[in-house]
Amino acid sequence: MRAAISQLVLLLAMCGAQTRSAQTEVQTESQGTGAAAAAEVSTQLDFSAELKELRDIVQKQESNSVTMRDELKTVLERLVFSESKVVALERVNAAQQAELVAVKTRVSATETELESQEKQVNETPRVSFSGALATSSSGCINAGNSDMRLVFSRVITNVGQAYDTESGFFIAPVRGVYYFRFTAYNRQDPGKLLTIRMYKNGQHVVYLSDVDGTYLSTGVTLEMEKGEDIILMLTAHSQICCSPHNESTFTAFMVFPL
Ligand SMILES: *[C@@H]1O[C@H](CO)[C@@H](O)[C@H](O)[C@H]1NC(C)=O
Repeated sequence: MRAAISQLVLLLAMCGAQTRSAQTEVQTESQGTGAAAAAEVSTQLDFSAELKELRDIVQKQESNSVTMRDELKTVLERLVFSESKVVALERVNAAQQAELVAVKTRVSATETELESQEKQVNETPRVSFSGALATSSSGCINAGNSDMRLVFSRVITNVGQAYDTESGFFIAPVRGVYYFRFTAYNRQDPGKLLTIRMYKNGQHVVYLSDVDGTYLSTGVTLEMEKGEDIILMLTAHSQICCSPHNESTFTAFMVFPL
């Protein structure tokens, strides 16, 4: 645009010079005839019309150039605004990415923790036993002259096989807290005592006794080391009864590992 304008200006200047030289020429010759004077006037008119036309063109170009400059200014302003917007967006994006990284780290930490907990749960044996006393046809067991280990061989539940239905030993497969409970039934036979003791690794834990024929029941939680055992002993000269209705039962399960 600027090049076009300067070309026009140059053209304009050249036209002016030409006009002046023509005038000089005419003036030299005009001293002669009247016809020459008329020709001079007509030439001058032509030149000024052309000049006016050229000026109009230049003015038009100039006003065009002003409009274009304004437009350019607007475009530039918009560009600067867009750039600042991009910078702001980039900042937000960076913040979001940092947040994402933090969240990913937390998720992977949680996953690791979950995996280790899952592993612990999977590795921890599940232990739960309930069994009833299997009695002879008479329905009662008599201890005789010495204490007798009770065997709850009529299995109701034995998940984890911690209870040995042959020997009557409950053996802790892992260190943990366990719950033990028993209910013992004695028929109302005159003078027949029912006394039961629970032992943990040979050490006395709980004792229940009654003489009139009834149900005795107790429960206890115990910390057990791996391999420690629990047994129920029927004291000498006492009796315990059980029909197919499972009145005398023993229950043991792990509450949680330690
Ligand atoms: C007693 O326990 C055994 C073993 O679980 C079971 O089969 C039986 O049905 C139980 N008896 C009664 C009367 O519930």
